[in-house]
Amino acid sequence: MHRRAARDVLGVLIALALAGCEAPPRPGADLAVLSTTPDEGAENVPISVVPRVVLDRPLDPTTVDADAFRLYSGDLVPGGAVAYSVVDRSLTFTPGVTLRTRLAYAARLADGVRGIDGSAPVSPVELVFVTGSDDRGRPAPPPDPTFDGEILPLVTARCSSCHAPPAPAGGLSLASADDILRAAATTSSEWLGWAVVAAGSPARSYLLYKVTGSPGLVGRQMPPGEPLALDDARKLERWIAMGAGR
Ligand code: HEC
Repeated sequence: MHRRAARDVLGVLIALALAGCEAPPRPGADLAVLSTTPDEGAENVPISVVPRVVLDRPLDPTTVDADAFRLYSGDLVPGGAVAYSVVDRSLTFTPGVTLRTRLAYAARLADGVRGIDGSAPVSPVELVFVTGSDDRGRPAPPPDPTFDGEILPLVTARCSSCHAPPAPAGGLSLASADDILRAAATTSSEWLGWAVVAAGSPARSYLLYKVTGSPGLVGRQMPPGEPLALDDARKLERWIAMGAGR
C-alpha cells in the first residue's frame, strides 16, 4: 500500500519534470494527412476548387511559407495564396487564376513542412486531380468577428471564471477587455519564447494551441474538460489574424 503510494508520487514527479521541459515539443509519430479537397484522384473537379489538405496535428509555423502548399500542372505553376489554419490544421491554396478545364493538376505539400513536434510525412504529400468544366464559384468567407460583439463575450463566458484576479490561473488574466487585449503583450509561461497572442500571427499564438490541443501541450487543453466549439476557436483565430485589437 505504502509502496504503491510512493510509486504514484514518483510517477507524478517524473510527469511534472517531463512537462517542464516540453517547449518546444519533441518529434512524435509521422505527420499524417486526414483528408483532402478534392479527393485524391478525383475527376471532373470544378475549376473553382480551392485545394485543401487537413493534417493530423498543428504545423511548425517556421516551416509554413507562401510555397508550403502549391498547385502544379506540368510546367504550369498557377499563382495563388496559401493559407494555414491552426484551428483546422489545414493548408489551403486559393488559385489567383481560374483553373483550366479538363486538365490534371497536382497540389503538393512542400518538402520542408513539419508538424509542431518536428514530425514529417512518411512520403511526399501530393494530391492529383483532373478538372471538369464546372465553375461553382467560391463560398463567401464567414463575416469577421468583432471584439465587443463576439470575442469579449466568448472569452468572458468561457475563460474568465479561472483567468481572473487576484490569482489568475496560469498567471494569465482574461477577465476584462483590457486584460484580453493585453494578452497580446504577454509571453507564455508554458511554451517559453511564445506569445500568448501574437497579433496578426495566429500560428505563433500559444492560446490557439491551448484551446485546440496540440502535441507537447503543457497542462490541459482549455477550457479544461469543455473544449470550445470549432466555430468559436475559428473566431479567435480570425480575430488574432486581424491584429487582435478592438
Ligand atoms: C476551469 C478553469 C479554467 C478555465 C475555464 C480556463 N482556463 Fe486556461 N488555464 C487554467 C489553468 C489552471 C492553467 C495553468 C495550468 C494548465 O495550463 O493546465 C491555464 C493556463 C492557460 C494558458 C497558458 C498560459 C501561459 O502562460 O502559457 C492559456 C493560454 C489559457 N489557459 C487560455 C485559456 C482560454 C483562452 C480559456 C477560455 C477559452 C481558458 N484558458 C479557460 C484554468 C482555466
